[in-house]
Amino acid sequence: MPISRRTLLKGCSIAAAAYGTGLALPAARRAFADAPAELVAHEGSALLADGPPTGAVMTYGLGGAGDGVPPVLRMRKGEEFAARLVNRLREPTTVHWHGLRIANAMDGVPEMTQPYVYPGDSFDYRFTPPDAGTFWYHPHCNTLTQMGRGLTGVLVVEDPADPVFDAEIVLNLRDFRLGGDGQFIAPFKPRDAARGGTFGTVRTTNWQREPVYDAPAGGLVRVRIAATDVTRVYRLGLEGAGAMVVALDGNPLAAPFPLDLCDVGPGQRMDIVLRMPASEGMVATLSNVKGSAPWTVARFRAVGADAKRSLRDVGALPANPIPVADLKAAEIIPMEFTATAEHGARESICGSLGYTFWAINRVAWPGDTADGVAPLAELKLGKSYVFRVANRTPHAHPIHLHGMSFHIVASNQPRLLGHATDTILLQPDETADLALVADNPGAWMLHCHIIEHQKTGMSSYVTVT
Ligand code: C2O
Ligand code: CU
Repeated sequence: MPISRRTLLKGCSIAAAAYGTGLALPAARRAFADAPAELVAHEGSALLADGPPTGAVMTYGLGGAGDGVPPVLRMRKGEEFAARLVNRLREPTTVHWHGLRIANAMDGVPEMTQPYVYPGDSFDYRFTPPDAGTFWYHPHCNTLTQMGRGLTGVLVVEDPADPVFDAEIVLNLRDFRLGGDGQFIAPFKPRDAARGGTFGTVRTTNWQREPVYDAPAGGLVRVRIAATDVTRVYRLGLEGAGAMVVALDGNPLAAPFPLDLCDVGPGQRMDIVLRMPASEGMVATLSNVKGSAPWTVARFRAVGADAKRSLRDVGALPANPIPVADLKAAEIIPMEFTATAEHGARESICGSLGYTFWAINRVAWPGDTADGVAPLAELKLGKSYVFRVANRTPHAHPIHLHGMSFHIVASNQPRLLGHATDTILLQPDETADLALVADNPGAWMLHCHIIEHQKTGMSSYVTVT
């Protein structure tokens, strides 16, 4: 597939070809505080590959069963949302609301912010999302298995002030690690966990392969893309239509730019607005172009008469109220991401991979809990900080901070600066400055979102008091 242009920026960064749009949204549901959703984690089977259904899939259903991709949860900025997690798995679980700046007690980290939710038990989540955008939700217990088997869902926070588009499509991108018989195989290989991570074998979009979505010809379509895979970094490009990147990791871009090629790492999101081809039946294709052979992520097929919309009409989305750090007063906190030869993996209620490969500031996270691990930093409520994160490895690491968003203000590598995010895809040998205001009290995890890395040491936390 010809990729016409290419920017040097990384992090979205990369830029765009041209792409299109389509339909088959997973069931969208809104659950506000007056009607709490019951979010049931359970096992089932699903048609993921050719051949027989895959057993022992894990998913969420709203109000009960529901096979297939976890529902898109919709909530509204500034409005209280409530959901009861019901655990019908055979192991403990929790839900983490990735990217939401909410109270620590709702953050979903076992033992650190809430008890384990054992099989048959439930836990009530209730919070008010302060930011609009594309986020996602997943367990924070035995995550390589639970997320690997399906428990990764997209979460949309709507803003009544958002511009209206002709259609909206949510894409949940992830792989499944299946054998030739369509059943799950070992979720990781130690030698890969010690490198870039173990890849899945079946690549999906909303749990389908190469889905096609219909959208109005010549219309503007908002496509919310979430990379929920445990390992894969996507490099996305579009052919057959033009698109603007309007938000990264949930946060609107002050100046949207044309999609050329864009890296989206595990845990990250990208919102694009694409303009559908003008004639009925024409198709635009979103592809992953990382690696040797490009492959199709989704297709978008134009339907109906030409709506005659233009990408020139796409402006910036309303900004989120992320506090801006005072860089002059900010204390600098160095954080080094390295490999380690220490071996400290502990048996844990939320599972252990049995290996230690990675560390943050020379300390490898041993198991579920912080027992014996000092926080990376003890932050003072309301003060400004710069996390100087340094990747001393030859692999990219998507580093995610819970509970607070940060602005990437400097890097020794070309990348988009000034943008607010909850996850930075830290490139090999990159050092970057992440500026934030410590405005949310509690203990907050900071970890690599390549789950094998997280589960073999590359995890820690900061406190805000
Ligand atoms: Cu997506 Cu600890 O999180
Ligand atoms: Cu990593």
